[in-house]
Amino acid sequence: MNTHAHTTNGRAPDRSPRRSRLRAPLAAALAGLVATGSLIALAGTAQAASTLGASAAASGRYFGTAVAANHLGESGYVSTLNTEFNSVTAENEMKWDATEPSRGSFTFGGADQVVNHARGQGMRVRGHTLVWHSQLPNWVGQLATADLRTAMNNHITQLMNRYKGQIHSWDVVNEAFQDGGSGARRSSPFQDKLGAGFIEEAFRTARATDPNAKLCYNDYNTDGVNAKSNAVYAMVRDFKARGVPIDCVGFQSHFNSQSPVPGDYQQNLQRFADLGVDVQITELDIAGSGTAQANSYSSVIRTCLAISRCTGVTVWGVTDKYSWRSGDTPLLFDGNYAKKAAYTAVLTALGGSPGGGGGGGGSASCTATYRAGTSWADRFNGEVTITAGTTAITTWTTTVTVRSPQKISTTWNGTPTWDTTGNIMTMKPAGNGTLAPGASTTFGFTIMTNGNTQPPTIGTCTTT
Ligand code: G3I
Repeated sequence: MNTHAHTTNGRAPDRSPRRSRLRAPLAAALAGLVATGSLIALAGTAQAASTLGASAAASGRYFGTAVAANHLGESGYVSTLNTEFNSVTAENEMKWDATEPSRGSFTFGGADQVVNHARGQGMRVRGHTLVWHSQLPNWVGQLATADLRTAMNNHITQLMNRYKGQIHSWDVVNEAFQDGGSGARRSSPFQDKLGAGFIEEAFRTARATDPNAKLCYNDYNTDGVNAKSNAVYAMVRDFKARGVPIDCVGFQSHFNSQSPVPGDYQQNLQRFADLGVDVQITELDIAGSGTAQANSYSSVIRTCLAISRCTGVTVWGVTDKYSWRSGDTPLLFDGNYAKKAAYTAVLTALGGSPGGGGGGGGSASCTATYRAGTSWADRFNGEVTITAGTTAITTWTTTVTVRSPQKISTTWNGTPTWDTTGNIMTMKPAGNGTLAPGASTTFGFTIMTNGNTQPPTIGTCTTT
């Protein structure tokens, strides 16, 4: 369990979870210099961004995956994990049923395996999860109120002490709100016996136990603005106002056709970030295949990159074959650990460059990435970079949506058309539609703020 003194492959050691973002690229560059002892390593630094972890590290973020201890003996699983990811979450091994199956009797076998593997590779670790209504042994629900309070606080203390200094972020409380429009708290032994204050108490106990871990509230169906995310938002705002310790909010981001990536995903995560907490995408998976899946993944990554307080992304598993919903093929690697189009889209969106083959499967795809340009008192410029996937493309289309009363006054390097509201601009090429694999072109525009300085929302890139 010794901490590693060096970094590998863009990974940062987990000594200082609050380390400055600016230090990650520097650390990666220094590690390259030490490894090769020559200036060629500077070129290697750029090239190092051929993995998800290294590409994310270039902007100070982590790129993680859920890991199951029972697959750590499988070579394809382990080599993919070690090569591509720089943060792990134990998929089940840190949950209450795994760690305290009977009262006061703690079992850390699986959790230790995951943590030891991660640390041996210089990866960071997310802690998941301390207080949750699910995977909760029966004995917890049978306790009377005072005993339950003691047991909850003891469980938090024991787990956090076991991995003190080794976990960058803990999901202190998981899924405490109901689905649907009520915005109410979910019934659980904690809620029913201790009342809503159990959440606050759990966070206070967690802070007292490991003051250096970031403390997160984590939930699903909170990715867009809706009644459930509004309720979580109100709780976080209240916690910040009253000084209840909370550092981050996790957005699980399990997407499928019934629950696609919401149009207001960025707006929602940003409003949380604006409360003064980090946001993390904690359990990302997207049902589907091919270009559609790749484009959705790309838009999720671009959303995180557009939010300075979005500190990292975790996908919920390494390979489709071991996903909790494997029939949906929701992950970045197929059952043979081949890179899917979704993988290439994520890597490209992170600013990495595909090398080592795979990914496109021969189907044409593109990504659209926003960059803010110069701003003035009454207007600002924006640019969108269109990048082809692993196959050449001959045309592309994306949308730029501004927020009323904003208006786009000028565009360049593209052919715009407008919807009836004037808020959604569809942009097609103006002589710059043909792109070689991995090649890019850029179009731009000026937005008159009319008092609203928020950036536009960029749609997914489509090609034929
Ligand atoms: O390990 C046993 C095995 O011995 C037994 O033969 C088998 C028979 O069903 O079950 C195995 O345990 C299963 C475990 O996954 C490991 O595979 C449990 O039944 C199964 O319930 C458990 O599912 C997990 C689920 O949480 C439980 O709620 C999934 O792996 C895990 O991916 C999923 O993760 C949750 C997050 O923690 C919170 N957010 C939602 C997310 C997806 O549901």
